[in-house]
Amino acid sequence: MNYHWSASSQSAFSMLQLLPLFLCCLNSFSFPVSASPSPSASFLKCLSISKIPEHQLANITYTPKSTNYTSVLQDYIRNSRFNTSSTPKPALIFTPFLESQVQEIVKCSKESGIQLTIRSGGHDYEALSYTSKNPFVILDLFNLRSIAINLEDETAWVEAGATTGELYYAIWQKSKVHAFPSGVCTTLGIGGHFSGGGYGNLLRKFGLSVDNVVDAKIVDANGRILDRKGMGEDLFWAIRGGGGASFGVVLAYKINLVRVPPTVTVFQVTKTLEENATDLVYQWQYIADKFDRDLFVRAFLQTYAGEKNKTSVRVSFIALFLGDADKLVSLVKSNFPELGLKKEDCKEISWIQSVLFFAGYPDGTPETTLLVRKTTSPSASKMKSDYVRTPIPKDGLREAVKRLAESGNIWMQFNPYGGKMSEIPESALPFPHRAGVIFKIQYLVIWNEAGPAVDQSNIDKLREFYKFMTPYVSKNPREAFLNYRDIDIGSTDNGNDAYNQGKVYGIKYFKGNFDRLVQVKTKVDPTNLFRNEQSIPLLRK
Ligand SMILES: Cc1cc2nc3c(=O)[nH]c(=O)nc-3n(C[C@H](O)[C@H](O)[C@H](O)COP(=O)(O)OP(=O)(O)OC[C@H]3O[C@@H](n4cnc5c(N)ncnc54)[C@H](O)[C@@H]3O)c2cc1C
Ligand SMILES: *[C@@H]1O[C@H](CO)[C@@H](O)[C@H](O)[C@H]1NC(C)=O
Ligand SMILES: *[C@@H]1O[C@H](CO)[C@@H](O)[C@H](O)[C@H]1NC(C)=O
Ligand SMILES: *[C@@H]1O[C@H](CO)[C@@H](O)[C@H](O)[C@H]1NC(C)=O
Ligand SMILES: *[C@@H]1O[C@H](CO)[C@@H](O)[C@H](O)[C@H]1NC(C)=O
Ligand SMILES: *[C@@H]1O[C@H](CO)[C@@H](O)[C@H](O)[C@H]1NC(C)=O
Repeated sequence: MNYHWSASSQSAFSMLQLLPLFLCCLNSFSFPVSASPSPSASFLKCLSISKIPEHQLANITYTPKSTNYTSVLQDYIRNSRFNTSSTPKPALIFTPFLESQVQEIVKCSKESGIQLTIRSGGHDYEALSYTSKNPFVILDLFNLRSIAINLEDETAWVEAGATTGELYYAIWQKSKVHAFPSGVCTTLGIGGHFSGGGYGNLLRKFGLSVDNVVDAKIVDANGRILDRKGMGEDLFWAIRGGGGASFGVVLAYKINLVRVPPTVTVFQVTKTLEENATDLVYQWQYIADKFDRDLFVRAFLQTYAGEKNKTSVRVSFIALFLGDADKLVSLVKSNFPELGLKKEDCKEISWIQSVLFFAGYPDGTPETTLLVRKTTSPSASKMKSDYVRTPIPKDGLREAVKRLAESGNIWMQFNPYGGKMSEIPESALPFPHRAGVIFKIQYLVIWNEAGPAVDQSNIDKLREFYKFMTPYVSKNPREAFLNYRDIDIGSTDNGNDAYNQGKVYGIKYFKGNFDRLVQVKTKVDPTNLFRNEQSIPLLRK
């Protein structure tokens, strides 16, 4: 979890019982097949006469009565804010391990009318993959997670339920000079992460994950399995940044691997306010998107207990360079001398070790750690995002830092753009935040106490800070990153006014690409089977 990075330490490198019975029950007392059966009973009835054999069905279906229902539900909850007794729970959970099972589940979801939420890794910041205001069932893809690397043509097929860590590990096992540009956190699900764009510390050189996707396999609203050729270029365009959940169930993506040197260099240099951290961030804004594209320097503004335990702010500059330390030091010296980078600050390591470094693991952590799917820290959080196209003036930065300190637990992560990101036209893919973006801000507020009051006060605090930032960030629209899902920027009830409601957040996430997404949606899913509170709406009737 990249946000646990040096959270608590001061140092620079701190940081289901199955239901063999349900089929019988359907015909007897448990699910009385009355005049109007409940949606979940009709769902189960539909499946019982589907192509899924009975023994398989029992193996992949969890009802609230199943012994393992709760553990299967909680396994992929990443935010304790949505792990409470009052969080709305699914009527059913399905954990298919065959594509054909996904097809039948989609068909029965259409027949029953109940909302289907799709979950791959469960990192959705607003939990749209595993909870909803409406009755719903979860289609959980963690059993579909194979990865096939083909070094001959430098491609791979990755199933939706695989994690970024598993992908990195699989590449590393086959080659020490190949990599893939995607998230810094190593437990992200490919299904959600790629369909929402997917960025990481290789984006200045290689763009987003979706900029390197060359084929995909989905189950569409009719339960058909389609590849790129079968789905056509419009739908293939949409599922590369427009979010999968509006269009179908992504089963797998085919990606082009990228080449990296056998040795890369990383550093983390942390400065306090007394060490002019604010000035450094100010300077960073003028160079971060212009550096050599082999270099990615993130700035992370975090609160910590400073002198006399007074909350203060420090800034970590965390970098990945696709080259050696000497070249890195001279690059930084000529472009960002204020940082005072020394060779001792740098570590020359393999790309796979740089993945562990960025994920916050200590030196020498074994690569097998990337295969760990569970996250350990069940804290609560709320995130928001912004894009910056004009450097924030010094006064603005000072005031922001002051407010961070006052907040006690709001952090900001600045991620630089430029390089390859600026060369890809805004309409090439649904993700529109390209040329002109200097950096993206991720706002984080993380807390450990539980309860609605403490949740609300933290969320309010972050909203207030976001309001304060208005003059310094992109306008008309105020852009936002789909993968940093934020329900505050609008939602739809999928009722009559869905188009207008959807346009509010749609323009922020997709700018001018929103209308094309709506057209694709209307064509491929006219009954709005694939929906959630922030899905792409149908064209206005
Ligand atoms: C700790 C942490 C670190 C993060 N770091 C990064 C980062 O470095 N870079 C970055 O870009 N993002 C990052 N994110 C955001 C992350 O990319 C998104 O939350 C992403 O959507 C997660 O995908 P998932 O499959 O894990 O999530 P899920 O919650 O399973 O899914 C997210 C959304 O995608 C839909 N979806 C999931 N699977 C499918 C599928 N197979 N077919 C169709 N729709 C599907 C869901 O219904 C939901 O709407 C981070 C998030 C967290 C919590
Ligand atoms: C159900 O949970 C128990 C206890 O956690 C576990 O031993 C068992 O393997 C689980 N069964 C399945 C099918 O997940
Ligand atoms: C049950 O599901 C698991 C995956 O969860 C799978 O490996 C196993 O083969 C399934 N068993 C049967 C009998 O289908
Ligand atoms: C959810 O709650 C269970 C206990 O009910 C706990 O074991 C688990 O760690 C929690 N997960 C998160 C993300 O809060
Ligand atoms: C911080 O900036 C001031 C004014 O420019 C300068 O005098 C001082 O040396 C700087 N401090 C550090 C630690 O660089
Ligand atoms: C700082 O705060 C911590 C935890 O709140 C406390 O244990 C410690 O004694 C405090 N130190 C000082 C110097 O006040």
